Amino acid sequence: MTDWHFDVPTTGSKILPPDARSWEALSSQGYDFEVAVADLVDNSVDAGAKDVVIHFLRDGDQLVSLLVVDDGWGMDEAGLDVAMTVGGRRDYGTRALGMFGTGLKSASLSQADSVTVISRTRRSRPAGRRWVMERARSDHRCDIVDADYAQGLLDRYYDRPITWQGTVVRWDGVKDFPKHGGGGQTDRYLNRIIAKLGLHLGLHLHRFLAREDFNITIAVEDVRTGTVYLDYGVQPVDPFGYPISGDPTYPRRFTAPVAGLGDVTLHAHIWTPRSNLDEYKAVGSVMDRQGFYFYRNDRLVQAGGWNKFRQAEQHLSLARVAVDLPFEGGDVFRLTVKKSGVETSPEFAVALEHARGVNGMPFTDYLTAAQSAYREARRRSGPTREAVIPPGKGIPPEVRQVIKEELPVQEYEDPIEIRWQKLDGGAFFDLDRENHVILLNSTYRTAVLGGRRGGINDAPMIKSLLYLMLNQVFQKAHSGPREKDNLQLWQSILVAAARSELDRLADND
Ligand SMILES: Nc1ncnc2c1ncn2[C@@H]1O[C@H](COP(=O)(O)OP(=O)(O)O)[C@@H](O)[C@H]1O
Ligand SMILES: [Mg+2]
Repeated sequence: MTDWHFDVPTTGSKILPPDARSWEALSSQGYDFEVAVADLVDNSVDAGAKDVVIHFLRDGDQLVSLLVVDDGWGMDEAGLDVAMTVGGRRDYGTRALGMFGTGLKSASLSQADSVTVISRTRRSRPAGRRWVMERARSDHRCDIVDADYAQGLLDRYYDRPITWQGTVVRWDGVKDFPKHGGGGQTDRYLNRIIAKLGLHLGLHLHRFLAREDFNITIAVEDVRTGTVYLDYGVQPVDPFGYPISGDPTYPRRFTAPVAGLGDVTLHAHIWTPRSNLDEYKAVGSVMDRQGFYFYRNDRLVQAGGWNKFRQAEQHLSLARVAVDLPFEGGDVFRLTVKKSGVETSPEFAVALEHARGVNGMPFTDYLTAAQSAYREARRRSGPTREAVIPPGKGIPPEVRQVIKEELPVQEYEDPIEIRWQKLDGGAFFDLDRENHVILLNSTYRTAVLGGRRGGINDAPMIKSLLYLMLNQVFQKAHSGPREKDNLQLWQSILVAAARSELDRLADND
C-alpha cells in the first residue's frame, strides 16, 4: 500500500505544450474595456513613457480601431517577440507595474479580434507583430508586420508623442464598439466610454498623472476627414484629495506588524463629510469606496474594500486607508491578474488587530473616529425635519403644496387656518388654539395688502411667515413663559410694521 508520507515517485517527464485553445482561456478573463486599456497604459509607464495617447479611430458613424501610443523606450525585433509571447517578459526592475507577462495579450484579445504592436527604439528600425485571435487559436502563429507599414504608422505619430522611440498598440475588431453607429449611437458610446476610461485611468494612475511630466491624452479622429473630434487630457483623481479632513486629528499613521513580512504602514484618512467631489463620489458607489487603497509601485491596484477585516457600512463611508505594498509582498498581498484588487492572507487581518498609531492608539480607534465624523455630520445638517401641523384655508394651495413637499406633516391634526377678523385691543394676530386658527386683525388688512384686493387666499407672504412662526405654538396646549414672551414680542414688532405700512400708503395718496 502507498505510504502517505512518501513524495510522489516519478519515472520520467514529457513536454506538454498548452493546447491552442488556451488562447480562449487567456482572453476570457472578464476584463472590462477600461481595465484592459489601463493594462496597456501600465506597459507604457513601465517603458518610461512621458506621453501616452489613447486614440479612437472612427469612419463616419463607425468606430474602427483603438490605438494606445507611447513615447517609451520601445522594442526591437527580439523585444517584440518577447512582448507577444504569453508569459514573456523582459527583466524589469522591482519598480515595474507589469507582473505576469500576460497583460498585453490577455487584455487585448479579450477586447479585440486582433492586436498589432509596432515599435522602435533609439537604435532599432520600426518593426511590428500581430496576433489575430483566429490564427493564434489554430496554430499559435504570430504575424510579422511589413516594415514600411510599421514606419508609416509611427510617422503618423511623429512628434506627438513619438520622436525617436515609442510603441503603438492597435486593436481591431473591438467587441465593445457599437456594431451600427448610426443615429448618434457612436457619439453616445464615445461620451460614455471616454468618461469611464478617463475616471478609471485618472484614479488608478493618479500619482503618475500628478507629476508634471506625465500625460495621458484621449483623442477621437475621423479617418476619412482627418477631423479630430476630441482631445482631452486625463486628470488625476486622487481618492485622498479631500479639501479638509473630516476629523482635524487625521490623517494618522498606523503600523501593522505583519508576520513574516515586517511592518506595513497604514495611512488612515477621514474624508470631508458630504463631499460632492469626483474624488469622493465619481468612481463607483461611495459604499464600495471605503477601506483599503493599495498601491503597488505608485499604481493604485485596489480602490476600496476591507479585505474581510470589516463589512462595508454606511457609517464608514469616510474611511479610506492608503497602503503602499512592500516590494516583496510574499504570500500576504497577492495581486489579481487584472490588477483590480489585492488578495490578503489572514496574517494581514491579524496584523490589523495589532496595528498601532502614535502613543499606542489602536487602529480600531480610527474606525470609531471615522464613524463619528459621519454621524456628527449627519446630525448637524441632518435631513430629519420635524413634522408640522398641515397648512389649511387662507394659505394659497400652491404654497400649501410646497410646505407639504418640504416638511413631513401630521396628517391626523386639523390644518391651521388663517383668516381676517376684527380684533379688540390692537393686536396684530390672535390664536384659537383649539380650532387651529390664526386670526389676523382686519384693521391692518389694508396695510398688509398695500392697496391690492383682498380674498380668501390674500397676503400669502405674511400668512406663510406666521404659519412657520406659529406652527410650534399650536403643537402644545399651553405656552411656557418664554413662548408667551415671544408671542408678545412678535405682536409689538408686527404692529409697528403694519403702522409703518399704513403711513407709507397715506404718503403715496
Ligand atoms: N508599450 C510598451 N513599450 C515597451 N515594451 C512593452 C510595451 N508593452 C509591452 N512591452 C513588453 O512586453 C512585455 C509583456 O507585456 P505584458 O504582456 O503586458 O506583461 P507584463 O507587463 O506583465 O510584463 C513587457 O514586459 C515589456 O517588455
Ligand atoms: Mg503589462
